[in-house]
Amino acid sequence: TDLYAVVGNPIGHSKSPQIHSAFAAQTRQDLLYTAQLVPLDSFELALDKFFKHGGCGVNVTVPFKENAWRYADEFTPRAQRAQAVNTLKKMSDGRILADNTDGVGLVRDLTVNHGVTITGKRILLLGAGGAVRGVLQPILEQQPAELIIANRTLSKAEILAADFADLGNIKAAAFDALDGSFDVIINGTSASLSGDLPPLSPAVLTAGTVCYDMMYSTQTTVFNQWALDHGVTKAIDGLGMLVEQAAEAFALWRDVRPETATVITVLRGERR
Ligand code: ATR
Repeated sequence: TDLYAVVGNPIGHSKSPQIHSAFAAQTRQDLLYTAQLVPLDSFELALDKFFKHGGCGVNVTVPFKENAWRYADEFTPRAQRAQAVNTLKKMSDGRILADNTDGVGLVRDLTVNHGVTITGKRILLLGAGGAVRGVLQPILEQQPAELIIANRTLSKAEILAADFADLGNIKAAAFDALDGSFDVIINGTSASLSGDLPPLSPAVLTAGTVCYDMMYSTQTTVFNQWALDHGVTKAIDGLGMLVEQAAEAFALWRDVRPETATVITVLRGERR
């Protein structure tokens, strides 16, 4: 049996074992996928051990995505750009390939699952941490008319905008300097984790604005609730992104693409 794992700290809440087990059953792949809690100072050691003892691939979550990028030997272009990765694969020569599937997961959930167009649209992305860095290339590949990154610490947004400027029309702005409204607003800050709202004026919204929170939880996130309270009709949480990034990792490992809709439906049902 081929072994896979998600590594993080904490890891108890992870839905990845359930998602990948469902993918394996569906595609008749013989594999075992577990969740592994790794001590904060032992990422490299834990991965050395895992790959030495039959491990074929791992997903990496908070706070190890940058460690994983440093650990790898080879990179997909989007992983190299992100400088943080959520997927590692042991190749046939034993070297470790890194990919970041978060961005494609987000784009696929928005465009395929929810029918939201990014191409030619005005997009606002909130936050400038690792989570946002990881999704910039796939969003820019959709060729939005304009992508604005707003962050509490403006300098971090400016660095991201400069780093990705060659890929499209990307700019940084402070929250209080945003002009006009947006077609799509994506919350990539960690504010939701602590029940906080990014300091955003409702002037950025129209009734047709699509809001997307990269977080998900059993309740509507504070950001999505804020959007709904201000008349937005489409406020989407990150559950679909979670399943889609997993599907992309699974495809990289197993060369077969699992179907995601039924897995998303099952997970949504369990939260009720
Ligand atoms: P992650 O890996 O989740 O991206 P991170 O790298 O620590 O975590 O980045 C967290 C992001 O959320 C940052 O953009 C942070 O803003 P700052 O760069 O100004 O710190 C943003 N963030 C966290 N809490 C926030 C809050 N209460 N309001 C607005 N932005 C917040």
